Amino acid sequence: MTTKVRTGIPGLDSILSGGLREGMNVVLAGPPGSGKTTLGMQFLYQGIKDFDESGIFVTLSESPISIKNSFLSYGWDIQSLIEQGKFIIIDARPFKMEEGFVALDESLYRGESLPFMHLTQLILSSVKRIAAKRLVVDSLSVLAMQYTNEFYLRQGLQGMIHALESANCTSLLISETGETRDIPIDWYVTSGIILLHHIRREDTMERAIQVLKMRGIKHSEQILPIRINDSGMQVMHPRLIP
Ligand SMILES: Nc1ncnc2c1ncn2[C@@H]1O[C@H](COP(=O)(O)OP(=O)(O)OP(=O)(O)O)[C@@H](O)[C@H]1O
Ligand SMILES: [Mg+2]
Repeated sequence: MTTKVRTGIPGLDSILSGGLREGMNVVLAGPPGSGKTTLGMQFLYQGIKDFDESGIFVTLSESPISIKNSFLSYGWDIQSLIEQGKFIIIDARPFKMEEGFVALDESLYRGESLPFMHLTQLILSSVKRIAAKRLVVDSLSVLAMQYTNEFYLRQGLQGMIHALESANCTSLLISETGETRDIPIDWYVTSGIILLHHIRREDTMERAIQVLKMRGIKHSEQILPIRINDSGMQVMHPRLIP
């Protein structure tokens, strides 16, 4: 029997027949503000708190300080987890502020024969260092934007995903969706896709979640409402909504 990785998001595991498969990689896609980062943070934080599974957050857009503050806004103190060696933030932003200027940081990406090669190595050594079982990349879209050749991009992505699978690290790869109808490459190469939606109902906006694909896992085909409040995200099952 395969081990199920419980997501830590109330209501989500039951629509995934108990959770994710250990070592699998899942794209988490949605428009701006739909809750992608929140879901990713909760997956990592609850992983440590409830299951004692170390985690890694790879940031490509927000600074590590801003990420820590986002965790804190839900009451999740990750500083102490970092000090205990259970959590690592990898700063993989291609552009960083240096002495008040925005500078191109080429240390991770320069001279690669394949995209993501150095980043994958850095992630793998961090996974080893804290025996991480969970990983979030926020976001894959920023990573992909740096490469124009789609063939090499796909090869690089596949290499990264394969390495994470081999390390038995369950990964959520955040993908930003917008108005375009093109299906991003990352949707094809990963083993699962979870979509977050904003649905307009008259003059209010409702949040929802949908499991689009999950290889090897029987999942719900419903689009279910979600709530985000001070303690994080929750999937609402229709019969539970007051
Ligand atoms: N404490 C809170 N209580 C209720 N809602 C909150 C709270 N904190 C954040 N939110 C809401 O959660 C939303 C989701 O934020 P999040 O950063 O997870 O989205 P995202 O999909 O990562 O966005 P982006 O694409 O811009 O990175 C915020 O826009 C805000 O409306
Ligand atoms: Mg975000």
